[in-house]
Amino acid sequence: MTNSPNAITVHKLHPRLGAEIRGVDLAQSLSAEVFELIVRAFNEYSVLLFRNQAINDDQQVAFSQRFHELEKISFSLAAKNPYVYELSNIDEHGQILKSDAKKRTFLNVNARWHTDSSFKPIPAMASILSGREIPIHERADTDFASMRVGYDEIAVERRAALRGLMAVHHYAYSLQLTGDGNVPQAELDALPPSTHPILRIHPGSGQPSLFVSGHIESINGMPVEAGRHLAEELIRWCTRPEFVYSHEWITNDLVMWDNRCTLHRATVVPEREIRRAHRTTVMGEGPVEALL
Ligand code: OGA
Ligand code: MN
Repeated sequence: MTNSPNAITVHKLHPRLGAEIRGVDLAQSLSAEVFELIVRAFNEYSVLLFRNQAINDDQQVAFSQRFHELEKISFSLAAKNPYVYELSNIDEHGQILKSDAKKRTFLNVNARWHTDSSFKPIPAMASILSGREIPIHERADTDFASMRVGYDEIAVERRAALRGLMAVHHYAYSLQLTGDGNVPQAELDALPPSTHPILRIHPGSGQPSLFVSGHIESINGMPVEAGRHLAEELIRWCTRPEFVYSHEWITNDLVMWDNRCTLHRATVVPEREIRRAHRTTVMGEGPVEALL
């Protein structure tokens, strides 16, 4: 495959978000023109799927860095490369995690609807997940929903009440809801809470979007429980079943999602077959711009 712009085709995955891009080999370098096509599709569809991408970490990092600087892995589950996070259900000996393993509770954080790194002062632009080894029998989909669609669907009168609201996102909060996962205190201390508007402008398209996440601990100016309740209500709104694209993985799928305007969640951690995926995380372009 030569990565010619003429060979690229785009196929919608779901009426509300997601597209499969065919005709690209991400192991090879991409011309500016091909890369531009991918960026445009990303800003339009929010979730991109590339099938049959047998890439290594260096190739994944090279592709990811085209978008922007990458986040360094901030906690202990790092792989060999400082920018590549190995997401797997195996232990350090390659054995599938027992049902009571601490690491499972850590993985369970991903089972709540969230957007990656929303607890950082500059949340992530994109996450790029390469399915290196995917179970054949045990299905473990990743679900996606659009917060831009969520915003569009809110009644105009309701939008006004959300303007100006600022949410506090805190990794330690979402982690303690699903079990501590043995994450060392020093790593949690390195991730203090961050505050972001609930309504934002999506930098890639200029369109308004909700910006909510399972990491929201409170909303400024509201009693804690009421703030959590509002965040959960907005997440439920965005993730009504008819708005969700469930991605059924095949080995060598590469899926990238826009953390600025989508929510995602893991469904299950397989019990019998290995699931091993490598993630790179593209830093956001700057602080979240509020919709005024
Ligand atoms: C992630 C994530 C979900 C999954 O990598 O950020 O939430 O299904 N993954 O592995
Ligand atoms: Mn995630």
